[in-house]
Amino acid sequence: MQMTELIAKKRDGGVLTAEEIAFMIEGYVNGAIPDYQMSAMCMAILFRGMDDDEILQLTMSMMHSGETLDLSPIRGVKADKHSTGGVGDKTSLVLCPMVAACGVKIAKMSGRGLGHTGGTIDKLESFPGFVTGLSEERFFENVNRVGIAIAGQTAEVCPADKKLYALRDVTGTVPSIPLIVSSIMSKKLAAGADVIVLDVKCGSGAFMKTPAQARELAEGLTRVGKLAGKRCAAVITDMDEPLGYAVGNALEVREAIDVLAGRTEAGELLNLCLTLGACMLTGSGLAADECEARERLAATIADGSALKKLADMVEAQYGDSRAVYDPSLLPAAPVTLEVPSAQSGYVSHIEAEDVGLVSMHLGGGRATKESAIDLSVGVVLRKKVGDRVEAGESLAVIHASDEKKAAEAAELLRGCYTLSPAPVEKAPFIKNIVR
Ligand code: URA
Repeated sequence: MQMTELIAKKRDGGVLTAEEIAFMIEGYVNGAIPDYQMSAMCMAILFRGMDDDEILQLTMSMMHSGETLDLSPIRGVKADKHSTGGVGDKTSLVLCPMVAACGVKIAKMSGRGLGHTGGTIDKLESFPGFVTGLSEERFFENVNRVGIAIAGQTAEVCPADKKLYALRDVTGTVPSIPLIVSSIMSKKLAAGADVIVLDVKCGSGAFMKTPAQARELAEGLTRVGKLAGKRCAAVITDMDEPLGYAVGNALEVREAIDVLAGRTEAGELLNLCLTLGACMLTGSGLAADECEARERLAATIADGSALKKLADMVEAQYGDSRAVYDPSLLPAAPVTLEVPSAQSGYVSHIEAEDVGLVSMHLGGGRATKESAIDLSVGVVLRKKVGDRVEAGESLAVIHASDEKKAAEAAELLRGCYTLSPAPVEKAPFIKNIVR
């Protein structure tokens, strides 16, 4: 078999066989197939697409390129959640303790942030002492004992995806549904859960800019999950503005704690967690229908069990769990600066990606994988889309390491807001659920 023949086959709209796909992925990982041939293949896939069977075979070949986690030592149903990436996305910090408090086991591998999006692992490291690099034995023990563990991805999972994603990033081949589906699902299948729930972001701050693209991705992800024998659902949610109010590691942890402690009004973040959580509970067989699942999840906030589950997880991963009940123990920036609006009006848009870049500019995000980050800095929005603002009223507050950075960030942040003279109707936050 020759890679040149496979590239030509896909270029001409052919369907690759399971053997051909396995040959291509094995050859790429072991170095027999060079980057230039794989880039041509990615571009051919981007233009010609793949059918369901090809996507499944590609996903399985990528999954088998590295280690897979066998979660059988963990008792009970195991559920996992994945987000396609957004700004201010602290969903896992709220959702996972709620679902675990209902009895579903959460054995979750999460990533670090890169560029304008944050990562759950960085956010969790805001708890002093928190360890994300757990041994497999300790990871399983924690899930069996506490019901939940969130650890960093190990280098051995899906090496094919690491290599391919880096190549796609520099060859204009990221926005291909078959390549995104296989990239996400190979990692999720390798992580071994029985139930997989996907949060597919849609809007200016997401990979998928339109509802039609997001729906296509959601359907592709759930189809592959089901073909691989998993219970799978996808929720399509708005990313035309950041999720919730805080953007920045420790600031997002505070917001998540406030939601778990029932200190905030029922907003989009909680709604999202109830929706994703209901898919996890019904998929796990722990609730008969969505209504019962939402009630059980809401009860974990009212009775404090979700907050306690977070504290138990932090403690089991060597972190200072007192910070769950006293967020003043989390890292805090020395300088805060309000950002007054130059005009009056209604907020019609907040450019999510740019807010993420403001947080990165403050030191809260990574420009490269090696960059160090400041967990304390970021932005807390005071106004969201649809809100009325008077000239001089604060749009947001900047948390910075010094006054110069705060002033620069305030200027950038003002540019993220678009105001309209007329009232603005907000688009629905949950756009669709694909089961
Ligand atoms: N997230 C992934 O893990 N892979 C992609 O290709 C896109 C988003």
